[in-house]
Amino acid sequence: MAGGKITTKEKILNLLTENANSFISGQEIADKLFLTRAAVWKSIKSLQAEGNNILAVNNRGYCLLSDSQPLSGAMIEAELQYASGNIEVIFLDETESTNDDAKRLGNEGYEKNAVIISDYQSKGKGRRGRSFSSPKGLGLYMSFLLHPDIRVEDAYLLTCAAAVATARAISQITGKDADIKWVNDLYLGSKKICGILTEGSVSLETTGLDYAVVGIGVNIFAPNEGFPPEIRDVAGALYEGGQAPDNVRNKLCAAIIDNFLKMTDEGDRTFVKEYRDRSNLIGHYVKVNPYGDTGRKLEGYAKVLDIDDNCHLVVEYENGVRESLSTGEVSVRKY
Ligand code: BTN
Repeated sequence: MAGGKITTKEKILNLLTENANSFISGQEIADKLFLTRAAVWKSIKSLQAEGNNILAVNNRGYCLLSDSQPLSGAMIEAELQYASGNIEVIFLDETESTNDDAKRLGNEGYEKNAVIISDYQSKGKGRRGRSFSSPKGLGLYMSFLLHPDIRVEDAYLLTCAAAVATARAISQITGKDADIKWVNDLYLGSKKICGILTEGSVSLETTGLDYAVVGIGVNIFAPNEGFPPEIRDVAGALYEGGQAPDNVRNKLCAAIIDNFLKMTDEGDRTFVKEYRDRSNLIGHYVKVNPYGDTGRKLEGYAKVLDIDDNCHLVVEYENGVRESLSTGEVSVRKY
């Protein structure tokens, strides 16, 4: 402040701070502060030069990023390309589980496609009743609510498509190459950085899929205190030290939405090739553990020969017997 009089720049910064992490248009700032848009732009440039992290986006306006890597619904929407206008983006600062939120929406009869994104989950869910650690500010926790016209038995292909969409988005935004561990985990080297949980509701009338919920959790930054002891051996993050690109969480989130929506709109299986190419199981030995009441006979150690066009894992047991494993039938541990 100069001589007790608040300057134009300070007024603009105050306005941006009140709206931190959301966009406010140049016109709105100009109207509120009785300025021309040119004067607003001049002050914004000067504030940026002083080190304030202000995004300027055509047709959206200005957005002050209040911490170094915030997650914001407005910024995710601003980054969307293919999916822009094709999906409802619902952003929550915190929630119990975005999968549960999406299912609730589905049960209420919400007919549009939606993606629910949260900065923190207090009851993040993993597969088989496990929890999914979802600390604030460090990851990406998002669930799609979709109404695909597919058979119930093909619903697992959504999981495989989501794995490819996420791996592809990671390459596009961070330049890092994630592997896919059949069925629904992404790995960087030996560390799991992403898990996917697909749930759904079956219509009793048509016996088709009423809706599907595809939940994706990505560890972007590692917690300062380390991962919880129960997952410490296996969990990793995209950035464990090293400089992350600006705005990486919003950009990655938007790229996942763009990639995944495009794949589900196309509705074909062209993603299977990339799924296979990114597999970290082909050529390795796995332990096949049946679970549930599946009537499976075979179990034990097997070599992974391939992933077929249905995303089934083709394995050969030590006695030479070959089998094609479908998701949900078995759990596989890599050796
Ligand atoms: C797994 O690794 O077992 C699957 C983890 C899936 C986590 C995501 S985070 C967003 C969505 N909401 C949840 O409660 N779970 C999924």
